Amino acid sequence: MGGFCDLHCHILYGVDDGAQTVEDARALIDGAYSSGTRTICFTPHYNPFRKIDSAGAEETFRTFSAEMKEKYPDLTLCLGAEVLYHQKIADSLSRGACRTLNGTRFVLVEFLPDDDGQYIIQSLESVAARGYTPILAHAERYHSFLGKPKYALSVAEREFPIQLNVRSVTGENGKRVQKFCRLLLKEGAAAVIATDAHDPDYADARLDEGFRAVASRFGPEYATTIFCRMPRILLGLDPNG
Ligand SMILES: [Fe+2]
Repeated sequence: MGGFCDLHCHILYGVDDGAQTVEDARALIDGAYSSGTRTICFTPHYNPFRKIDSAGAEETFRTFSAEMKEKYPDLTLCLGAEVLYHQKIADSLSRGACRTLNGTRFVLVEFLPDDDGQYIIQSLESVAARGYTPILAHAERYHSFLGKPKYALSVAEREFPIQLNVRSVTGENGKRVQKFCRLLLKEGAAAVIATDAHDPDYADARLDEGFRAVASRFGPEYATTIFCRMPRILLGLDPNG
């Protein structure tokens, strides 16, 4: 396999509440690379109610990815966004106010923690009706889903990929959240595990511990699919690259 692929992180510095400085971003990339990650998609937040500088993110991406490619020639870096769901999401995407993942038709969509489960499902369907495939960001963060996992299974049945945060899978966000993640993993309903790294803490961008935990409990084949192959497919890349 070609290493882990982190589909969701806030490593691109100075654009959202993730890494603030280039030093923080470098430390996060060092942590990711040294633990086996070879593909990273930067997904800065897009919130339609806050002013953001999309062009600034692209410029930072160009400069930073050129520097990182020099240090790590076999590291693939892409640009995307984590888009807060809003009614005009498809219009925001088509006019370039926010972006899909690496120019594909896949969009990483997040909701507010208290949003209703049925509302989340209907909203994802409305994104799909406009020709995009929504990826549900950190499904374990929505209280309605935690209380009623069948909402998450309904999302998977509709073939909308579900992303879980690696720290939720390894238990760092509590037992209840971990139990929910394990249920989805047992059902084969989780499509992607990513870091959602924000913190300049060196370890925040690592996927290796989570990979080992999933591989030992659910088998290396599924672990390889959700840590390596599927996220690359969703970025429009060769799954075996
Ligand atoms: Fe995020």
